Amino acid sequence: SDQCGIAVESRIDCGRDRSLSRADCEGRGCCYVPLPQSGLGGPPWCFYPVRYPGYKMGPLLPTEKGQRATLARSEPSYLPRDIPTLQLDVMPETLGRLHLTLKDPASPRYEVPFVTSQSRGHKDIQNPLYDVDFQPDPFGFIVRRKSNGRVLLNTTIGPLLFADQYLQLSTSMASSAISGLGEHYTPITLDLNWSSVSLWNRDMAPHVRPSHHFTFFFNFVLLLSKMAYYVGLLFKSKNLDNLPIAEVFLQPAPALTWVTVGGILDFYIFLGPSPQSVVQQYHEVIGYPMMPPYWSLGFHLCRWGYTSTNITRTVVQLMRQAKIPLDVQWNDLDYADQRRVFTFDPQRFGDLPQMVEEFHQLGMKYVLILDPGISSASPPGSYKPFDDGLKRGVFIKNSTGQILIGKVWPGPTAFPDFTNPTTQDWWMDCIRVFHSKVPVDGLWIDMNEPSNFVQGSVDGCPDSDLEKPPYTPGVIGGQLNSGTLCVSAQQYLSNHYNLHNLYGLTEAIATHRALLKVKSTRPFVLSRSSFPGLGRFSAHWTGDVRSDWEQLRFSIPGVLLFGLYGIPLVGADVCGFGGDTTEELCVRWTQLGAFYPFMRNHNDRPNAPQEPYVFSQQAQDAMRTAITLRYSLLPFLYTLFHHTHSSSSTVARPLFLEFPTDPNCQSIDRQFLWGSSLLISPVLEEGAVQVTAYLPPGTWYSLHNVIPPLILLHIVISYCSKGQCILFPAPLDTINVHVREGSIIPQQVPALTTTASRRNPFTLIVALSVGNWAKGELFWDDGESLDTFEHGHYSYVLFFAQEVQNRVNFVKLNGSLDGLVLGEVRVFGVQASPTAVWANGQKVHDFSYSPDTKVCNKCLCFILIFKMC
Ligand code: GLC
Repeated sequence: SDQCGIAVESRIDCGRDRSLSRADCEGRGCCYVPLPQSGLGGPPWCFYPVRYPGYKMGPLLPTEKGQRATLARSEPSYLPRDIPTLQLDVMPETLGRLHLTLKDPASPRYEVPFVTSQSRGHKDIQNPLYDVDFQPDPFGFIVRRKSNGRVLLNTTIGPLLFADQYLQLSTSMASSAISGLGEHYTPITLDLNWSSVSLWNRDMAPHVRPSHHFTFFFNFVLLLSKMAYYVGLLFKSKNLDNLPIAEVFLQPAPALTWVTVGGILDFYIFLGPSPQSVVQQYHEVIGYPMMPPYWSLGFHLCRWGYTSTNITRTVVQLMRQAKIPLDVQWNDLDYADQRRVFTFDPQRFGDLPQMVEEFHQLGMKYVLILDPGISSASPPGSYKPFDDGLKRGVFIKNSTGQILIGKVWPGPTAFPDFTNPTTQDWWMDCIRVFHSKVPVDGLWIDMNEPSNFVQGSVDGCPDSDLEKPPYTPGVIGGQLNSGTLCVSAQQYLSNHYNLHNLYGLTEAIATHRALLKVKSTRPFVLSRSSFPGLGRFSAHWTGDVRSDWEQLRFSIPGVLLFGLYGIPLVGADVCGFGGDTTEELCVRWTQLGAFYPFMRNHNDRPNAPQEPYVFSQQAQDAMRTAITLRYSLLPFLYTLFHHTHSSSSTVARPLFLEFPTDPNCQSIDRQFLWGSSLLISPVLEEGAVQVTAYLPPGTWYSLHNVIPPLILLHIVISYCSKGQCILFPAPLDTINVHVREGSIIPQQVPALTTTASRRNPFTLIVALSVGNWAKGELFWDDGESLDTFEHGHYSYVLFFAQEVQNRVNFVKLNGSLDGLVLGEVRVFGVQASPTAVWANGQKVHDFSYSPDTKVCNKCLCFILIFKMC
């Protein structure tokens, strides 16, 4: 019939929950039109006709926050346990943010106490960026951008389904370039060719899966549009009950279908219009990222297999001998007595407290691993964390009220329920007692999906609608309890079915809080599992990546996505975790890793060692160059973190965020930016000694090995790009980094630790624009005190360069810059010899400018560039 005349790419699958025969399909009132290819993974054969019956919408009535309507079904759907009546709330919260919820008015829901919105939505929004229209029967809504009438979302393309354990909503999208939807092993723009994403936290090494089943929960989509308008879409909740596993289907229309197996539908639409403002509007809802301690931006070294304190000490010694900066030495599970957390092995790690003290004496920090599973098999009275936890009732229980026992590294384990305030206190006590012996500087919370080596529990899981919902989304292992706990397990706030994806976040909150109380400095927590809002408490790494070139390449989109998700302190294991690295791979990975916001080299037990000092002199030199370049740029990186923390800009940034109107930038994910002014173009292929990199229009200055103090001949090359790809030399000692015209980058003379480098002179790179100006800034504080920005305990400096003078404006100054000097200013792009140089109002006599030799003399000088645009 006419109603089935829908373009193939726009067909919305009517058999999402199970595969249907023609009779089943038509029994549902759907269209059955087979295609030449098999229906598997491609367009559906059974799809909804136009105006497939659903809910009917009643009148919209004003409420305090917006408008409300009741939706009712006249006939049941094909799903078990329909919710026949729904409440729709439409809440325009800010000019650029619209919030809609659909819930069952008959059943009240919990509020998640820890997910807070920093923004105050106002009630009477005048002239928002959006318009919403409703189709009353069958219910659907259309969101338009008011300025140009463009349809951003249209949910009338398919029916709304809302049953007890199956909710579904489809929408068209304004663009085929979309990014987001959690942690996955793909390019930065998602594949819309009938792909799907499952949002269910899972212990799983990243790899390409044919069906694109992703493992980590993040429900934020960024839509890029050809018109350079960006829209964000967040499926999110303040209510627990809509957190169970979600699945998102993407199709070329372009359209998206959202399925969850419980709860409510709760979503925000962010109108941007710039992509950076979409990200900001999203972060206003989930919370701005934490300010990391300065030392956490240094180089971290770890491996599973540093089996004693002496071996760990040797690692540090060898790093120092090789003169390669190292701020943070780590230990994996090796330190723990029988792999039980909060203990240390009396033989191999008997002098762990002294070792940590020694590292502190060297100006270094120390972090160790802390898994959530608490060994339940030690003789009673011999392992306090378990005995005490048992007494205080901190562990997750199974559906019949006994403590759920699973298996992780130490063998049988119980799992703390971090949604329980008693558990948070017990956790803090465990950390306090341990810290009083071993003064760790941060904690690495691993295995917190939570991971379980047996399915559900050592006793299996009951047969129930929670463990086996009428529809089980695509998860690895086929069941929700695969590799984790029984989802019928009971936690303080709800069952594990509802809380699973929150496990890592709740552990991060408890760990952050404990470190804050115990140390009274900025906590450093590294978490493997993630959820929106994690960035307020924790850093993240991308899990057990393999030491190969493909993983190196995909680490870039992996890291960039977490910036969009508000977890800016992120990195992949440098040189790879699984398998043996090669020297060349490790050099290239160290170069790229030097530009991950979080830089840690970490290795698995059986593999060839990959500490920088194990390689040839040439490789060590290349790694040292990359890491010292990073160290020299830390004042710049730290300032970017300040902006992320205070106004939610991003640190490591995809090019499309900075150049939204440049179509060439939409899918670039082999290069990225630090802030708006450093472009990083790493080598990602074996054997390559050149790299093809895209330079957005404008002048870019090569930062090739510009590491202060710069004494000898140094030539900086400028490239004048019309928005084109350029082939750059990239021998093994080189990572291509370019400074954008118009920027001033603060650097500091590097040292073997940030404790030492923070005392060194600053230098500035001034990259003049065509109009002969540049600007930059520096945020500086003591690097570790709590809330320095909030309390005003910081310095903030603006740098301006113009043709006639360079100016330094101290916008805010506290003691943090005392004793520090500005040692050197290098100006790129000076066309002709300056007649005079002034510093702090004084004429500088010893500057020099030499168009022939490009030799930089004394302190205040320049670097000459060949040509400008
Ligand atoms: C997990 C972690 C890995 C760690 C290992 C042992 O696989 O992802 O980083 O080394 O457990 O603790």
